[in-house]
Amino acid sequence: MKPMLTVAAILLFATTSLVSAQVMRGNPQAGQAVYEQQCLRCHGTKLEGNGPDSQDLVIRPANLRSLSTRAKTDWELLIAISNGVLFSPMHGFRGKLTDQQLLDVLSYIRSVAPPDITS
Ligand code: HEC
Repeated sequence: MKPMLTVAAILLFATTSLVSAQVMRGNPQAGQAVYEQQCLRCHGTKLEGNGPDSQDLVIRPANLRSLSTRAKTDWELLIAISNGVLFSPMHGFRGKLTDQQLLDVLSYIRSVAPPDITS
């Protein structure tokens, strides 16, 4: 059984990094500038969801460093950023940001709070 598990783990790792390699073409430095302009007021300087505007919101901004966010795939986060989160103040940024900027800001988030692929 053990070798099978190792093969499965290697396959899982290879596929996960392949998927993220495809999506992760963003530039984290450029993404930081986008983040500071568009996201910081809610998600805060440390991405913990406590930016200056977060106090006024009934649904608090997500803590992007939390395990639950880190366990999500790049794709899931990209959908949240581009389409928004339903019934929350998180509106979609598609149209407001270019596709490249969406990837940049995603890669900035991932550089600060790396994906957790263990859960
Ligand atoms: C007006 C405040 C506000 C702004 C501005 C904002 N967000 Fe959000 N964000 C939220 C709220 C509220 C949620 C949803 C929290 C929940 O579902 O409980 C959220 C959720 C998210 C999620 C989903 C997290 C998860 O675990 O599913 C991501 C990713 C995210 N925001 C990224 C961004 C990025 C990147 C920007 C800037 C381009 C941004 N947000 C701008 C308030 C904001």
